[in-house]
Amino acid sequence: VDLRAFAYGLPKAELHLHLEGTLEPELKFALAARNGIALAEKTVEAVKATYDFTDLTSFLAVYYPAMEVLQTADDFHDLAWAYLQRAKANGVVHVEMFFDPQAHTSRGVPFADVVTGYRRAAVRAQDELGVSAELILCFLRDFTAEHAMSTLMEALPYKAWIVGVGLDSDERDNPPAKFAAVFARAKAEGFFTTMHCDIDQKGSIEHIRQVLEEIGVDRVDHGTNIVEDPALVALAKERGLGFTTCPVSNSFVTEQMKSDEIVSLLREGVRVTVNSDDPAYFGGYVADNYVALAEQAGLDAGDLARLAVNSFEASWLTPARRAAFV
Ligand code: ADE
Ligand code: ZN
Repeated sequence: VDLRAFAYGLPKAELHLHLEGTLEPELKFALAARNGIALAEKTVEAVKATYDFTDLTSFLAVYYPAMEVLQTADDFHDLAWAYLQRAKANGVVHVEMFFDPQAHTSRGVPFADVVTGYRRAAVRAQDELGVSAELILCFLRDFTAEHAMSTLMEALPYKAWIVGVGLDSDERDNPPAKFAAVFARAKAEGFFTTMHCDIDQKGSIEHIRQVLEEIGVDRVDHGTNIVEDPALVALAKERGLGFTTCPVSNSFVTEQMKSDEIVSLLREGVRVTVNSDDPAYFGGYVADNYVALAEQAGLDAGDLARLAVNSFEASWLTPARRAAFV
């Protein structure tokens, strides 16, 4: 079989995708024009030339300022809609999409505009593409726990539109335990929970231990450093815990796909999945991530099919809806 065609055609769920990370330069220019914003870079090539990332920090330094073009509910809709059409072309039939409300509310954009714009695109995806799409609210871990808690409170009226909460942004000095109370409250409100445990962090095994033993998350984003601790791997396997890995993103922030770690978890029967993270910045949507990992690690079609099955099993679909996919 042509593995690339197989990877694209394989029905899959995407579970680690930042909507703000799907902002392609072309759309950035269109939104800037619509909102009367002058951009420093004048061409797509000039924008792409700034995508010279060596680690998470240098990526985030480009990522947040780019969001200035996102101003209205229509802008958020257009961003998500553009992604959802690409996702469909990558074989995605279900997606749980992260969004970072604090990156917008902190510059004066109302929470309601962000969430209603994104929600409109999610509903449209189901109606027009047959793609089911849910939202995951991510807290920025370099903001305070109090700011996260007030954001959670702002989200409560929109609970029906938000399947879970996550934690992203700069992990250094911002351990999971900092957000224990926020996540306890989110769980009490009925949200699923996940947290980033980025792979380039020193001491990330301690963060992984915290999310498994103290926070009790339903999923872990990245988290491949868990291979350093076989007892934690055994615990993750026993719980059927999902890991949302992002091979192409890894190769930007660490110069390695972490394919050895991903494949080791796959072979051990841990529920590991493959995702795109911030595809507009890292240059690969989800099927490209399946292909890149397969090429790097010598995976076959059966392995890719297993990864796709894992993506549904690790999703937050209700059992009845999940049964329609696996
Ligand atoms: N925000 C967007 N992408 C991220 C990533 N991969 N890690 C942490 N924060 C992020
Ligand atoms: Zn991420």
